[in-house]
This record gives sequence, C-alpha cells and structure tokens, in this order.
Amino acid sequence: MKLNRWLATGMVVAAAAVAGAAPATASHPVDPTQQSLGQLGLRHDLYIGTAVDMAALADPADPQYRATVSTEFSSVTAENVMKWETLEPTRGTYNFGPADELIAFAKRNNQKVRGHVLVWQNQLPAWLTTGVNNGTIGKDELRDILRNHITTVVKHFKGKIWQWDVVNEAVSDPWDSPPTLHYKGFWAQHLGPGYIADAFRWARAADPKALLFYNDYNIEAFGSGDPANDKTQFVYDLAKALLRDRVPIDGIGSQGHLGTQYGNYDTLQVAAALKKFAGLGLATAFTEVDVRSVMTPGVQAGDSGEINPRLQASAANYSVLLQACLADRHCLSYTVWGFTDKHSWVPGWFTNPPEGLATIMDENYQPKRAYNLMKADLIHSGPPYVLPRVPQKPRR
Ligand code: G3I
Repeated sequence: MKLNRWLATGMVVAAAAVAGAAPATASHPVDPTQQSLGQLGLRHDLYIGTAVDMAALADPADPQYRATVSTEFSSVTAENVMKWETLEPTRGTYNFGPADELIAFAKRNNQKVRGHVLVWQNQLPAWLTTGVNNGTIGKDELRDILRNHITTVVKHFKGKIWQWDVVNEAVSDPWDSPPTLHYKGFWAQHLGPGYIADAFRWARAADPKALLFYNDYNIEAFGSGDPANDKTQFVYDLAKALLRDRVPIDGIGSQGHLGTQYGNYDTLQVAAALKKFAGLGLATAFTEVDVRSVMTPGVQAGDSGEINPRLQASAANYSVLLQACLADRHCLSYTVWGFTDKHSWVPGWFTNPPEGLATIMDENYQPKRAYNLMKADLIHSGPPYVLPRVPQKPRR
C-alpha cells in the first residue's frame, strides 16, 4: 500500500477488516479508542493475535472468553491442541477435532491462524517417547515418524495456516548444562541437529504457501554477539546457515515471555534485533508475548503499592515489543500468550516463587494498563516512522 493510501484508508480498513466492524464514513469517523487491538493493528497490516485455550473457548459458563477472542484479535494460535500429544495421541490415529474447531472459529471471525507447533521436545505422546527410550523405535524409524507427522499435519491444514512454527525451542539456555549454547532436547539427542532442516523441507513440501517459522524464547535482543552464550546470535547463525543451505525458512518467531523482575530490553534494542533478522530476508513475529510478575505476599494481599509498579512494568514491556514490531515492516504479527489472567499458563508453571499478573486483562476481563498502552501504541504510530508491513513470500 502506498503512503498516501495508507493515510487515506488506514482507519477505514482497520474498522472494516475484523468481523462485526462497521466501516467508517466521513460523517461517522471512527473513534480509535473504541476499536479492538485487531482492528487497530490492521491499520499497519499488523496482525494482533492471542493463544486460545480450547476448553475456555467452549465453556458456556465463560462467554466473555469466546466473545473477546472473536472481537479483540485478528489472529489466533492454538495454545495446546496442535501439539503432537493432542494431534496424534495414538500412533497413526489423528485427533484433529479440537484444532479444526479453532480453524472454523477463525474463519467465521475473519482471523488468520498461526500453526503451533510441528516439532518440539515437549508435549510429545507417550508412545513416541517410550518407544525411543526403550529402543523399540530406532533412528531411521524416528526420522520416518517425524516426516510422516509433519506431512500429515501440514497437509491436513493446507491452505488454512498463515504461519507455521515448524521448529520450537531447539536451542539451550546459558543455565543449561553444559552452559555453552547447543541444540537441546529429544530431537537433537536422537536425530542430531539435521532434523531442523529436514522439518522445514518436509513442511514446505506439504504446504508451499504457508510461511515457515523457527520459534524460540529469550531471543528478543542480541547480547554479547558470541553464539556460545548469546542465544539470539546462535539463532541468527542457525537461520543464516539454513538459508545458505537453501532450506525454506521464512521467518523467526520471538516468543516474548518476559518478567517484570528482569532487566529485559528497550525498544531500540529489540527493533535492532528484528532489523538484523529482516536483513537475512526473513519475516519476524512476536508469537507468545506475556509479562509476568512475582506474586509477593503484598501483591496477593492486594497492596496497591506493590501491584501498581508491576502493572506499569508489565505494560512497558508489552509496549517495548509492540513498538519494535511496528518499527520494522517485516514484523508481521504480535501474539499474546493468553489475554486474561483467568486463563494463563503462568500461575500453574511458576509456583516457587508464585508468579502471575502476566496478561493484558485481569481475571474479570477488565483491561489493564498493558492493554491500553498497546492500543495507544497502535493508534499513535504512523508515517513517517511506521509504515504497513512488507508481506513475506514463501521461500522456494
Ligand atoms: O491435557 C491435560 C489434561 O488432561 C489434564 O487434566 C490437565 C491437568 O493438569 O493437564 C492437561 O495438560 C496440560 C496442558 O497444558 C493442556 O492444558 C499440562 O498439565 C500443562 O503442563 C500444559 O501446559 C502448557 C505448556 O505449554 C506445556 O509445555 C501450557 O498450557 C501452554 O501455555 C504452554 O505453551 C508453551 C508454548 O507451547 C511454547 N513456548 C512456551 C509456552 C509456555 O510454556
């Protein structure tokens, strides 16, 4: 879209593109503060998504969840139901039902779908891990199983997935053993790192039009530049090597799981990282953003002196990632990993010390400061600094 057209049509497009929105007219201009995140994002061709908990989506006692997913977002990701343990709980028997429900929901609401996830070391079915661990599944068979799974799943959803997280969290962290960054987990251990290139090639063969992403956490900004301890550099080098080998990778997903107790990053650092990945010819996306806080006794008791700084810091971090994404035209989508503290993975995962307050709405679906700051970023960004996205073409 040309700059002058962006100026003329941006608000109208944003208003009309998400389900249920009435187009703006000269006599009824749109009040952007009343628009959803999804609508405001489309002003920049930027898709604002959420992870979706299918149990919550189907819960008749919680209609607000479903209503908010359908009206607030222009993209959805399955929080769990496209993972291997759900899709293929028994070898060769696929359970596509819950994921198909999400696809149908997204279609009804004019939303894009991020596919999550084809290859990951977590949430694998027991038949697979047990078979490998007891030696009944050997290396060659394991490679065949992986190829079959990717091919079957990607073909099933062919034409319905915008971006696939093909490989997730393949790289270790500095706190792992050994601390020198390396390829970690089930797949690297049993197949060697070559599984990464294989996975992208098999996914491309099964759906030539879906964008294929490598997805990971703690890659929001570059650090020392030494791939031995800088995970972002390690992933950058991985992407560069894949491209050199003509592997069909189209994008890098930066998850964006942040915490207010950490230093985190500022907008310029994050924008610089996105720009560097874009320099390789790759699209980028924030794929799982949330910003958690330690739930001290004071926070749990409702002490506003402890809660407010956490809400402020959480909002600031959501904004840092969103501003950086807006600033780089190859950053195609910004997905939050759940939008209400009523349904968030954080309290169940981080228990010692307890953490929470990670999402943009409270447990009663009331928008927090983070939600409003995201809206403000989307409303107040525009030319000459922020222009519409550059669409990514699937690599041949
Ligand atoms: O399916 C069982 C259910 O049968 C059982 O009754 C219930 C009891 O706890 O557990 C259910 O499994 C849970 C599963 O989510 C589905 O709800 C697991 O206990 C729970 O550990 C699992 O957590 C998910 C986690 O990935 C597992 O690795 C979170 O919901 C999900 O948000 C999280 O998502 C990951 C991304 O995929 C990758 N990046 C990190 C992100 C956060 O960990």
